[in-house]
Amino acid sequence: MSNKLIVSWLAVAALGCGAARQSPALQSRPTPLNDQELAGQRVFMRDCNGCHPQGDGGLGPALNDKPVPAAAIKLQVRQGLGAMPAFSEQEISSDELDALSAFMSASGSPWGG
Ligand code: HEC
Repeated sequence: MSNKLIVSWLAVAALGCGAARQSPALQSRPTPLNDQELAGQRVFMRDCNGCHPQGDGGLGPALNDKPVPAAAIKLQVRQGLGAMPAFSEQEISSDELDALSAFMSASGSPWGG
């Protein structure tokens, strides 16, 4: 009784075609912005940059020539002043406003807090 059982396994090597995508590290900035500050930068570019281009003076005054306390930024954004419109919670959520003021006072922001 010879029971020759030949078991051959065909090993199917699953080739890793999904090589991990690597995002290039943002090492070029001297002081990289953290996630919240980056989010704040997007809010700034969306809602503020038109009148305060890169923090410089435009239609509005320069913001990069003096430290502006977070509370003052938030008040200004919510209340508006003169030609600057007020931004409601629908336009800039409180999370976005936190991020915005974090960005504006971040050492890695264009105007270095
Ligand atoms: C439509 C143009 C406009 C937009 C958009 C705008 N601003 Fe202004 N901003 C102004 C003007 C004009 C002033 C000066 C108001 C005054 O003193 O009469 C000002 C003043 C300020 C000040 C006070 C600066 C100081 O010297 O005391 C801060 C802070 C500020 N803006 C932040 C922001 C932020 C943050 C945003 C985006 C959410 C923004 N602004 C969007 C026009 C604008």
